[in-house]
Amino acid sequence: MLLHTIEEVREQVRKWKKEGLTVGLVPTMGALHDGHRSLIEKSVEKCDRTVVSVFVNPIQFCPGEDLDKYPRTLDEDCTLCDKIGADIVFAPSPKEMYGEGHILSNDFLTYVIPPYFYTDKLCGKSRVGHFDGVCTVVNKLFNIVQPDFAFFGKKDMQQLIILKKMVKDLNIPVQIISCPIVRNTEGLALSSRNKYLSEEGKKDALALSRLLLNIKVCYNKGIKDVRALAETAFSFLNEKHSLEYLEFRDGVTLEAKEVADDNTVVFVAAKVENVRLIDNIELK
Ligand code: PAJ
Repeated sequence: MLLHTIEEVREQVRKWKKEGLTVGLVPTMGALHDGHRSLIEKSVEKCDRTVVSVFVNPIQFCPGEDLDKYPRTLDEDCTLCDKIGADIVFAPSPKEMYGEGHILSNDFLTYVIPPYFYTDKLCGKSRVGHFDGVCTVVNKLFNIVQPDFAFFGKKDMQQLIILKKMVKDLNIPVQIISCPIVRNTEGLALSSRNKYLSEEGKKDALALSRLLLNIKVCYNKGIKDVRALAETAFSFLNEKHSLEYLEFRDGVTLEAKEVADDNTVVFVAAKVENVRLIDNIELK
């Protein structure tokens, strides 16, 4: 069932709750691929009812980013959700979510601002305000759907860590379920933005997952010094890659590590063919 308004969703969820059914929410920006599919499948398996939101959230895009050209494929997305067994696709307009005239101005919107310590690093460094937009929209979706469970991918690990922190700090009554990264057969982490890459670009992009996997192999062989581990990455990169960061951080607090341990996550971001790609690996 495709719904566009907050009131319609509320009404449907109210009925489910009255029947004592559990509700799962899978927030997405659409252009669904097998990464999203894995989240939706998990929700359908775990919860009595599943809501998939499809909303290209304008307030999490920075000026100059790909808001206008972000792929929008609502018909295909609905077909996929139907096939997997989701009950509602919630696809609101920006006006439905943020009201007329107030869409892109912080001056007229109450924001949920996660702690600076979590947002001044990794993707937050180049995408200033991005996680404020993410937390604000996800908090709104939580209030609209009031799910028992919400499903997020480890593909966007910093986002996942920040959302867990938001739920904890604000006592939001939802359980966050973290889902593994889905990759293509060669190892490239699936992303809606992979559509911008040529075939050659997709091959070049494999360097990210390969260098991460190699770091994990080295870690398992006993190399714990972060600098030594980072050194091993450079042989995977060439002039086709514009590296933004390669960092070793704690998987809960995002504190930097000098010595890697089982709680360490290695984060990488790089541009290939001017497309910004991110990936990460847990060393455990
Ligand atoms: P989007 O990029 O559409 O991703 C929706 C969800 O799918 C996120 O939880 C993301 O981590 C997960 N996902 C994407 N690719 C994945 C992959 N290859 N493997 C596993 N999970 C994957 O993330 C967003 O949208 C937005 O920021 C959102 C949370 C919807 C707020 O607007």
